[in-house]
Amino acid sequence: MRSEDAARKLPLVVVTAPLSGGALALFEGRARVKLLDRRGPLGEAELAEALREASGAVTFLTDPVTRAVLEACPGLRVVSNVAVGTDNIDLEAARAQGVVVTHTPDVLTEATADLAWALILGVARRVVEGDRMVRAGGFSGWAPDLLLGVDLRGKILGLVGMGRIGRAVARRAPAFGMRVAYSQPRRLEDSVESALNARHLPLEDLLAAADVVSLHCPLTSETRRLMDRRRLLAMKPGAILVNTARGPVVDEEALVEWLRQGRLFGAGLDVYEREPALAPGLRELPNVLLLPHLGSATGAVRDAMARMAVTDCLAVLEGRQPEHWVV
Ligand code: GLV
Repeated sequence: MRSEDAARKLPLVVVTAPLSGGALALFEGRARVKLLDRRGPLGEAELAEALREASGAVTFLTDPVTRAVLEACPGLRVVSNVAVGTDNIDLEAARAQGVVVTHTPDVLTEATADLAWALILGVARRVVEGDRMVRAGGFSGWAPDLLLGVDLRGKILGLVGMGRIGRAVARRAPAFGMRVAYSQPRRLEDSVESALNARHLPLEDLLAAADVVSLHCPLTSETRRLMDRRRLLAMKPGAILVNTARGPVVDEEALVEWLRQGRLFGAGLDVYEREPALAPGLRELPNVLLLPHLGSATGAVRDAMARMAVTDCLAVLEGRQPEHWVV
């Protein structure tokens, strides 16, 4: 049996919220674990305090792993984010301090692509509006003009960002008869483009052409407010915007304005600019479908994400190369 002394020598890993999939058990005999007991999101000061003695941290996308937090934790060697996005972490500061950052790609790709399609279909066919009407007792019988939506067949799906998730969204497009265009700074190889039957367009051209624009870019200084007032206005009249990426990619107030004016048919949002707060007026709009950041939210995916983060965290602490490192 492990003696208390031996246990004390094990590195300390702070886990900022419960992990599913039996992931915590992977630490047994290899690290001491402190699971934070918190009620809401952690602020910078609380996070810095919690990580002060830690060698490793398993964090979530709501944890602000800022420069100040990293500088307050000189013993920290690895931050394993249970998310594919790492915009909650100051990667420059981590690199400068020699802290390895890992994330959880691949395992959530298909689930997130499914959710993007759920939003596309939900907005195009007014699924939630219909549900609300029925529940409110407003369904008085079939009518030829009741909640008419828009067809997807023959239309153009414009993907902003063509990484793993963008490509998975593209692969589903033929099933709905949609043609795919994509925009990102780096064009894909010809073979990948032709396998996906996807055409590369500059962003402005994509916005002018696409009937549905779905965002799949990471949040970086280049993509913050990429969909600003001007670009939202450049979208085809009557188009649909879907965001399963990160809220700050879109100017949410401008989006509310254009939706209210009926310039766009509708929007499906899983993420918000000041999450979990919503821009004023968003909630009241009938033509938006709003989800609470559910992109990767299936039981099996969350289990896999948790195990991946713990495995990579342990790899760094045990002197091995983690499989999914960012910096
Ligand atoms: C979810 O938003 C993620 O980045 O994993």
